[in-house]
Amino acid sequence: MHLCFQAGESGYLFKLARETQKVKKYSVTVLAGDGIGPEIVSEAVNILQLVQQMYGMQIYFIEELAGGASIDEYGEPLKDRALDFAKQSDAVLLGAVGGPKWEGLDYSIRPERALLKLRKELELFANLRPAKIYNALKGASTLKPEVIDGVDMMVVRELTGGLYFGTPKGVEKLPDGTERGVNTMVYTTAEIDRIARVAFEVAMMRGKKLVSVDKANVLETTELWRRVVIKAGEDYPEVQLSHMYVDNCAMQLIRNPKQFDVIVTENTFGDILSDEAAMLTGSIGMLPSASLGYDKRRAMYEPIHGSAPDIAGKNIANPIATILSVAMMLKYSLDMPEAAIAIENAVEAVLNKGLRTADIYQDGAKKVGCTEMGLAIADELKKTKV
Ligand code: IPM
Ligand code: MG
Repeated sequence: MHLCFQAGESGYLFKLARETQKVKKYSVTVLAGDGIGPEIVSEAVNILQLVQQMYGMQIYFIEELAGGASIDEYGEPLKDRALDFAKQSDAVLLGAVGGPKWEGLDYSIRPERALLKLRKELELFANLRPAKIYNALKGASTLKPEVIDGVDMMVVRELTGGLYFGTPKGVEKLPDGTERGVNTMVYTTAEIDRIARVAFEVAMMRGKKLVSVDKANVLETTELWRRVVIKAGEDYPEVQLSHMYVDNCAMQLIRNPKQFDVIVTENTFGDILSDEAAMLTGSIGMLPSASLGYDKRRAMYEPIHGSAPDIAGKNIANPIATILSVAMMLKYSLDMPEAAIAIENAVEAVLNKGLRTADIYQDGAKKVGCTEMGLAIADELKKTKV
């Protein structure tokens, strides 16, 4: 990441990036974070740098600390400066935050706060998490190949509301010396309507099947969720809408995952179900995500996995989820859908060649480290354009 520009230069760079010129110019804020974050992000940045050479575009990278790394340096998980860069740039690339080192800290200054603050302040209410099976990895899943063969779904997770952000929240002392902990699941009509519409739009571009996941038999909030989703659906008559309770959905994902095209759900339900969807594909190390808001220039891209502190610094992490997140960035934020497809094809080609990081390793494959995997994908990408 030594190739990144320093933060001080960025005012000028942002200005440059916005000028309309023949060469498309963009700025990307890079927050590598903790654990394996810096390793996987470094491979993804290499891919972006290759794309800019190959496709004649220019990307200015602004590197900032986030999560535990920022706590260690500045005593807080996200500096205002980092947040400002994230707001001003065309997209944010984030690795992962957190680790046991910071687990004892107060919630308000934990590494995860950096992520939640970015989501909230940038109003990234729509989190797209695609889960697709690669042919080459069918055997890597813990489920039978015939169950997962052909799985191709998108989880649309609401990202700035619900149980994660609702108030009241916190832990209070009771007069008898015990404690009481509270979190609140809150949604307004407007919050449900906007995420529902994103999900319907996504469904229109895919198989036109949407499952809205709630717990409407128990939770009033999600009874409202269901009503608002049905109402929004009136504007999308072509989409086949159905509803599922979250416990049933967790089961159906394992029982018959092929039935799903698009799933839309509450923040916490989406957090849980997207990890489950990820494992269908063989490894959580494979799944990218895009967090989008109203403004096209407010977007964050990150793998859905965490910082995996146990394997950090060993060059064994899987960079594919982060590299595929960069593909999503090219598609949604940088107007380069052809480059996005080229990256996805390069990933597939490398997997077809039998290269595997430890998390997706099977007998007979060629085990490679994080750097080798990144380089192999870059080599394949180079072949796609002469
Ligand atoms: C995710 C992660 C985050 C979340 C954590 C790291 C705060 O699990 O993006 O799914 O819970 O949203
Ligand atoms: Mg999660």
